This record gives sequence, C-alpha cells and structure tokens, in this order.
Amino acid sequence: MSLLSLHAISGGYSEVDIIHQISLEVQSGEIVTIAGTNGAGKSTLVKAVLGLLPRMSGQISLDGCEITTLAAEDRFYAGLAYVPQVANVFSSLTVRENLLVVRGVKRVQSRMQEVLETFPALVEKLSQRAGNLSGGERQQLAFARALMPSPKLMVLDEPTAALAPALVDKVFELVTQLPERGVAVLMVEQRARQALEISDRGYILDQGRCVLSGQADALLADSKMTQLYLGTR
Ligand SMILES: Nc1ncnc2c1ncn2[C@@H]1O[C@H](COP(=O)(O)OP(=O)(O)O)[C@@H](O)[C@H]1O
Ligand SMILES: [Mg+2]
Repeated sequence: MSLLSLHAISGGYSEVDIIHQISLEVQSGEIVTIAGTNGAGKSTLVKAVLGLLPRMSGQISLDGCEITTLAAEDRFYAGLAYVPQVANVFSSLTVRENLLVVRGVKRVQSRMQEVLETFPALVEKLSQRAGNLSGGERQQLAFARALMPSPKLMVLDEPTAALAPALVDKVFELVTQLPERGVAVLMVEQRARQALEISDRGYILDQGRCVLSGQADALLADSKMTQLYLGTR
C-alpha cells in the first residue's frame, strides 16, 4: 500500500482545469520529485494534495485513508506536513516558542527534544528570536517545526527557490535526512536535476499532464527528458 496515492486528479481555480488526470504514488521512506517547466501545474498539484485547490476531482489517500474531501487542517492532522517557501517561522518568537506553538503535538517538550537531535545547531539558539537567525538556521527551524507533529509525509514546493546558493545544498541535505526519521517526501523543485539525484522516483509535468515518470536514475539517464525538462548541463 502506498503512503500517498493520487488517482486521476484534475482541477483548477475556476471552471478551467489546470491539471489533468494525474496519478502519483509515494511509498513510505521515499523521496519523490515533481519536475517540469514553469506553469506546468506543479504548485497546483501540491495544492490539490494539501487540500488548498478550489476545485478538484479524483481520489487522494494517505496511509490507507481517503482524504479527498478533507479540509487542509484535517489533512495536517492526518499526517501531511508542508513547509511554505516564505513566512515559515514566526520571526518575533524565539526558536523554542516556534517549536512549542505547533498545533497538534502530543508531549510537546519531549517531542521538541527528539526533533532537536536532528538540528543540533538550533539547540544553542533556543532562546534567540527566529528573526535573528541566519538563513540556514531559519530553514532548519522551518523543517523542525514541520517535523514536530511526527508527520508521515512532508510536502515541499521549491524549498530552495529563495535561497542563497550556499544554502541550497544544506536544504537538500535536510531533505535526504527525512526518510531516516520516518518521513517520506514529495517535493517540487526547479533544480530538478539536483532534486532527482537525491530522489527515488520522479514525475514530469507538462501543461498540466504527467508526461513521464519513473525511477530517478532512469529519468536522469534519459537524454531526451533531460534536454526537454532539465536543460542541458
Ligand atoms: N491562484 C491561481 N488562480 C488562477 N490561476 C492560477 C493560480 N495559480 C496558478 N494559476 C495558473 O495555473 C497554471 C499552473 O500554475 P502553477 O501550478 O503555479 O505552475 P508551476 O508551479 O508548475 O510553475 C498557470 O497557468 C497559472 O497561471
Ligand atoms: Mg510552482
């Protein structure tokens, strides 16, 4: 059984469909990348997964439970985590407060200690305001916050888009650590080549349709695919 399963998802923002009949799976322990040209519908598909798309048809299940009609809030409680690109921490709160205010966390103090094992750099900054953190530390805090409720799947939409080049590798490193913490990853990335290099599988979208999918290494070895969708190196 797949952890996340999308079956024939179509939908959009008005009566016009932006995405068409997309089916996709994420197994537990997997990192799966969605790539494709600008405007292909990647973020729209992510919104469908999160329950944020105004109009949608098809079925979505998470860990065996159908979540198709659940509100975004309830999908969060069902185990979906999402790290927004910006505004992903509360700048005026301390690092500790940022971790403690996450909703839906049981035994929040001990969970915070567990999560911090993955982010030792944050331990020394617990009393600092998040607004005073470096870009890298802030990104770590955003991931740590998302991990607090022990999610099953982390959804990331272009996690490296707004980052300085030095931080990009750091974020990919954070992503690769998630499966070992029991969290699978579904990620949209502009840096598709780099993303596929750390992924198990990938899906390529073009004009709202899935035009190609497969093992990440097979996609990377497909010269027509890399030319069309990843640009030549
Ligand atoms: N909030 C919105 N309202 C209406 N149309 C939108 C909205 N967001 C995106 N779109 C349209 O949906 C299409 C796909 O956009 P998007 O999913 O953001 O693509 P990608 O993330 O692959 O770049 C684009 O044509 C875009 O203009
Ligand atoms: Mg997008």
